[in-house]
Amino acid sequence: MSQPRLNSPTDIATCRDDFPALHQEVNGHALVYLDSAASAQQPTTVIDAVARYQREDHANVHRGVHTLSHRATELYEGARDKLRDFVNASSRTEIVLTSGTTESINLVAQSYCRPLLQPGDQVLITWLEHHSNIVPWQLVCEQTGAELIVAPVNDRGEVERDQLRDLMTERVKLLGIGHVSNALGTINPLSEIIAEAKNLGITVLVDGAQGVPHMTVDVQALGCDFYAFSGHKMYGPTGTGVLWGREALLEEMPPYKGGGDMILEVSFDHTVFNELPYKFEAGTPNIAGTIGFGAAVDYLQSVGLENIHEHEKSLHDYMVHKLVDVDGIRLIGTAADQASVQSFLLNDIHPHDLGTILDHQGVAVRTGHHCAMPVMQRFGLPGTTRASLGLYNSSDDIDRLISALEKARQVFA
Ligand code: ALA
Repeated sequence: MSQPRLNSPTDIATCRDDFPALHQEVNGHALVYLDSAASAQQPTTVIDAVARYQREDHANVHRGVHTLSHRATELYEGARDKLRDFVNASSRTEIVLTSGTTESINLVAQSYCRPLLQPGDQVLITWLEHHSNIVPWQLVCEQTGAELIVAPVNDRGEVERDQLRDLMTERVKLLGIGHVSNALGTINPLSEIIAEAKNLGITVLVDGAQGVPHMTVDVQALGCDFYAFSGHKMYGPTGTGVLWGREALLEEMPPYKGGGDMILEVSFDHTVFNELPYKFEAGTPNIAGTIGFGAAVDYLQSVGLENIHEHEKSLHDYMVHKLVDVDGIRLIGTAADQASVQSFLLNDIHPHDLGTILDHQGVAVRTGHHCAMPVMQRFGLPGTTRASLGLYNSSDDIDRLISALEKARQVFA
């Protein structure tokens, strides 16, 4: 197979220059960063937006009459507007700013599900889920006497659609499903699954942490009720995220945390809560991070999600094509529709040992259970080695991965 043709060579091929962290040596080799599913590197525009705010505009938001506070508020709320546009929410009040996907899902578990669930009710998830789309539901099920049920996956790492459908009964009050599996890269056929659930009146939350960096997401077109995602998976700062929710649902939900900014009036007898989305945003938020998150949206939109998707898809195909030629490679996760992530094993080398040998050659990958222990158990494995792609990767990076794997194979022969 020849090297993949890039969809937009003039744009994408030069993107690597925008990411200063990529231009360094690790262990005497030029860095090859194949761990964007864990956390993506940040472009200069994001780093500069955060630094500029810290240097020139820092003050608390929503609270001050002075100029710096106005500037900080404008930048912070400007990021919310960009995020609204990014996922096509119908209103900025539907964009709740959180610390990340994990907090967004916990918010729904505690604020939407906890008052709703009764003994006998069920929350439905799949075997593919990340721990952050498992444990919050376990906690709320324990608190309410509801039951957590799980749809199985097949040997390729795809959700068994018939069994998922069979599990969707009137007892199920919420379906929590990932857009893209962080461990296996499986892209779930969300539109169809959401339509089936909504026909039965089931509320749907999508864990979009691994979706938004790789493809255009339109929450209105998807038809789900909640969509959660994180800034640092999409080239923004850590500690930032979004819960998008339908306004009618968010209106009915009680606050999740109490404190400053989420109130209109407080006395010792009674508190009047603030309007959406501030009702869910107690305390001083991650102002700098959120401004950087807004800059990450600008960056993604300037490159174009369609371009990114096509580029990463051709690179993923190239990676799979090269990996299967390495003696002793076993791919874990071979779904028909996959995004940017490939898990694998090499002979019987422990993934942590393999990851260490790759790091010695400047190649950064993630090893272990990928915060998705159940899906590892499904494949009878304690973990895998995972290479994950970002918009800045190239076929040269894949070639370096393959040479490093060949070397590891010889070291452990
Ligand atoms: N969820 C992150 C990953 O997949 C940490 O690596």
